[in-house]
Amino acid sequence: MAVIAKQCPQIEVTVVDLNEARIASWNDADVNNIPVYEPGLSAVVAEARGRNLFFSTDVDKAIDDADMIFISVNTPTKTYGAGKGQAADLKWIELCARQIARVSKSDKIVVEKSTLPVRTASTLKDILHHTSNGDGVKFQILSNPEFLAEGTAVEDLLAPDRVLIGGDQDEAGQNAVQALVDVYANWVPRERILTTNVWSSELSKLTANAMLAQRVSSINALSELCEHTEADINEVARAIGADSRIGPKFLKASVGFGGSCFQKDILNLVYIARTYGLTEVADYWEQVIIMNDHQKRRFANKIIKRLYNTVNGKKIAFLGWAFKKDTNDTRESAAIYVADHLLFEQANIAVYDPKVPAQQVYTDLDYLATRSPDENSDYVKVVHDPYEACKDAHAIAVLTEWDEFKTYDWQRIYDNMLKPAHLFDGRNILDRNELEAIGFKVSAVGS
Ligand code: UDX
Repeated sequence: MAVIAKQCPQIEVTVVDLNEARIASWNDADVNNIPVYEPGLSAVVAEARGRNLFFSTDVDKAIDDADMIFISVNTPTKTYGAGKGQAADLKWIELCARQIARVSKSDKIVVEKSTLPVRTASTLKDILHHTSNGDGVKFQILSNPEFLAEGTAVEDLLAPDRVLIGGDQDEAGQNAVQALVDVYANWVPRERILTTNVWSSELSKLTANAMLAQRVSSINALSELCEHTEADINEVARAIGADSRIGPKFLKASVGFGGSCFQKDILNLVYIARTYGLTEVADYWEQVIIMNDHQKRRFANKIIKRLYNTVNGKKIAFLGWAFKKDTNDTRESAAIYVADHLLFEQANIAVYDPKVPAQQVYTDLDYLATRSPDENSDYVKVVHDPYEACKDAHAIAVLTEWDEFKTYDWQRIYDNMLKPAHLFDGRNILDRNELEAIGFKVSAVGS
């Protein structure tokens, strides 16, 4: 929304949320205090805020004033009832729809921005049409899934590969589609704005994420084979990616994918396939998740094995906690699961991440509910200095590919560790030869 406001000064954008503290931080006089860390975002907010970008808790007024409403609420995996652990929880979507229906006094275009299971638009339509205050208010529902990746969000939004807009095929639906096309056309070349029916648009988001995650699981599956055959996954990936039909992106072997989208969307896809009785389709996609869980466990097991089969009481330094670099987001981060596994073996963990606050590390571990919050705070320490994290450690595990890790004084780190000093590069970002020359025992994923 901040990027739309930046690119379209003639459009007034109001972002509303019930959470007062959160809206207050979006309005913070110091634009560096906004709640999301994303390169370039504070500059975009600084440019548009107060001009045509506003943050408010007055939800009803914003609905009433708007011509177009983007629903951008959370759709987490259900933690209860039917579809528990797989289906998307649509509670917040439904509450939004009911509020829009209750408050609206004029026609609205309602845009699904949240990632939703295919055919959610019909639920929205039903609620909007049957709970509306009357007065002949008409609603058009569009699907406009977001393809930005965290860490590169502003870049991705300013120059997207494509914008996808799904709408009804009748005249009113097509007019609504055109209204949203006109917004994006302010800065996105017209040929990159794809229009489809609502169902194709909804399903495209889930399946684009599934295909990307599948590439990561495929390369990770091969990384295990490489570790047993003396092939090197980086060389294999380069050779595979040089085939123009395959392409080089998303072939980086790692400790496993994380983030708010991949796992959630694939589980949702699996659930939808099972609902239609498509067992083979469901099993096929589920394997992407199984492979990813395996990769995280395998990485933790390798640490234990290389540390002579016991990590009890040993200090292990974690460099990185976020699910990828350039974000403070930790949702589904591989680091959480690797830590959990090592804590079962009674390791001591020291975490350093340049952007993740200490409290978030504990919240993530407590959420697993595999041990008490007291135990988590006894065994896990979060520090603000990487050299302190590594001091007196038996091993270092690199869990996030932050660029700054490459610039450290690795000789100094090595000198302050217990020997033999191990390094487990879960992201394959450090120069193995240099580290081995210093004296480190290095294990990278897939080599
Ligand atoms: C993803 C999609 O890319 C984006 O289009 C969609 O809108 C939301 O979900 P995001 O979750 O922000 O974006 O990050 P992404 O860059 O896709 O990475 C996901 C995970 O896969 C990260 O943990 C990343 O480290 C991992 N990954 C990615 C790999 O392990 N290897 C790769 O080659 C690429």
